[in-house]
Amino acid sequence: MDYDRYDRVRAVQWHGDRLRLLDQRLLPQQEHWIDCRDAAAVTQAIRDLVVRGAPAIGIAAAWGVVLAARAGEPLEPALAMLRAARPTAVNLMWALDRMKARIAAGADAAALAREAQAIQDEDLAANRHMGELGASLIEPGAGVLTHCNTGSLATAGFGTALGVIRAGVASGRIARVYAGETRPWQQGARLTMYELVRDGIPAKLIADSAAAHLMRAGEVQWVIVGADRIAANGDTANKIGTYQLAIAARHHGVKFMVAAPSSTVDMATPDGEAIEIELRDPAELLSTAGRRTVVEGAEAWNPVFDVTPAELIDAIVTERGVIERPNAAAMQAMFGR
Ligand code: MRU
Repeated sequence: MDYDRYDRVRAVQWHGDRLRLLDQRLLPQQEHWIDCRDAAAVTQAIRDLVVRGAPAIGIAAAWGVVLAARAGEPLEPALAMLRAARPTAVNLMWALDRMKARIAAGADAAALAREAQAIQDEDLAANRHMGELGASLIEPGAGVLTHCNTGSLATAGFGTALGVIRAGVASGRIARVYAGETRPWQQGARLTMYELVRDGIPAKLIADSAAAHLMRAGEVQWVIVGADRIAANGDTANKIGTYQLAIAARHHGVKFMVAAPSSTVDMATPDGEAIEIELRDPAELLSTAGRRTVVEGAEAWNPVFDVTPAELIDAIVTERGVIERPNAAAMQAMFGR
């Protein structure tokens, strides 16, 4: 696999005394970098979606702890502040728990930096492995539909669902790639298409509302998505709109794959009902590209994740292996504590 061809951007970069983040709010029009010099700046960057995507959020938070340690800040409040930045993606809590365990073991700032780097490096390795595992499930000549952005921008590199797509295209198994816009924030339109075009992977953007029609037309055989939290029974929280894709996929005989590193698996959460779904500012729905599109006085409801029940998922792919038709027993066998 030619990783240099298929994985060209690193959105989270440690520069020794600061964390440099590619501002994902401005892509694809502008490639603008933001330097975070303390944990508060990292927290704000996570909350404001400068950095987004479950694994990338966890990695950024780990570096936020390093910044706090280097500044001699009290670490408990820094951990709590970072943890509260966003509620749904469990990679954030997972990374902070890892840093907390190192702090409890007496790690200094240099040792914490090594831990943050390990979290980042392990994520890239996991994604590359998942790419191969996921792609091997796909029949040659298949079309795939993805949702949101799950690529290098959302991770340490290569990506989760987009990693599977990269590996599937490179190995000739995937013949057609479609990406949904992912309203309201347009991660699919603005970020996934940006990555695919940079890779030279032919892909077509669709309106989110075109997905069922695309499936009916026989253009896609798999829906491949990432995850923000996978519960102990396999229920999966992911970007809003994922659930309706899974329902439409089952109706049309299209298979549904979730690709995520094991850091996204939360065995302490029994099922999807127990996952907190982030509600964001309704203003994100009322405007497009900074311009108000809805009549003044209108209200909106803006949940940004939903839960796909395990019974609608054909395969969960992590770096530890593939679970087909996930349920609590299979999850316990692979991730049990
Ligand atoms: O709100 P975001 O942009 O942080 O949401 C990201 C997603 O929902 C991704 O689908 C998810 O993190 C999958 S894994 C890269």
